[in-house]
Amino acid sequence: MDAVRQLLGIIEEIAKGNYSNDIMALTKEDQPETTRAIAEAIGLMMVKIEAREYQLEMMVEELKALNLKIKENTIKTVSAMAHALAARDAYTEGHAARVGDLAGRMAALMGLNEEEAESIRLGGILHDIGKIGFPDELFQAHEGQNPNNLVKEIMKHPGAGAEILKDLDFLGLSVELVHCHHERLDGKGYPRKLNAEEIPLGARILAVADSYDAMTTDRPYQKGRSPEAALGILRQHAGTRWDEACIEALEAVLGDVQNQ
Ligand SMILES: [Fe+2]
Repeated sequence: MDAVRQLLGIIEEIAKGNYSNDIMALTKEDQPETTRAIAEAIGLMMVKIEAREYQLEMMVEELKALNLKIKENTIKTVSAMAHALAARDAYTEGHAARVGDLAGRMAALMGLNEEEAESIRLGGILHDIGKIGFPDELFQAHEGQNPNNLVKEIMKHPGAGAEILKDLDFLGLSVELVHCHHERLDGKGYPRKLNAEEIPLGARILAVADSYDAMTTDRPYQKGRSPEAALGILRQHAGTRWDEACIEALEAVLGDVQNQ
């Protein structure tokens, strides 16, 4: 009876994941034959379970490494696409990466989780990818002073971008953010004239980061504004054009950068 109780105790420990050598004592010659046979079978089972657990742990490690590689490749793919656009549109060199960086930081500061913040960062890097099919004259066009037919063409780029990216499953949410980055809270944006609550938060973040970077960067036709002046313009249009909470997040991110 003692041996049965001992065997039972050992089985319970194995079930909890505690593998000890206690079972060995019950396989010795001084034990009744039945006890020895059961103890040997349990011992063998324990060794096999341990080996499988080890194998699983190894597989999990391999999967983690593969996952990291996929993530790295995703970022490289996205960067390659952004570089392809930069090659055509020289004066926005660095703009995509800066918008991605700013938007990702704003998202994290607003309490979005790591995955969402990363989608927003990738959306920032790719936001203008739809311009890649533009004719050269559109790249030479000047913001705010374009003939109507050019403006119409320019307004197609968010939709064109979403169309280019739509089959890249790894981009997830980023594709919709690219589609919505020129929408405005008051419904006067483009291409779909969405209203505030219809615009994903990530796209409202992108709109603020994109506009801030465009305003503070020197262009052939305009000198970049100071950060204070750009923030002033954003604040002036808070609630109509841009989301106030996103502007506050931008201010906090810029404050953090200055304090570094
Ligand atoms: Fe854009």
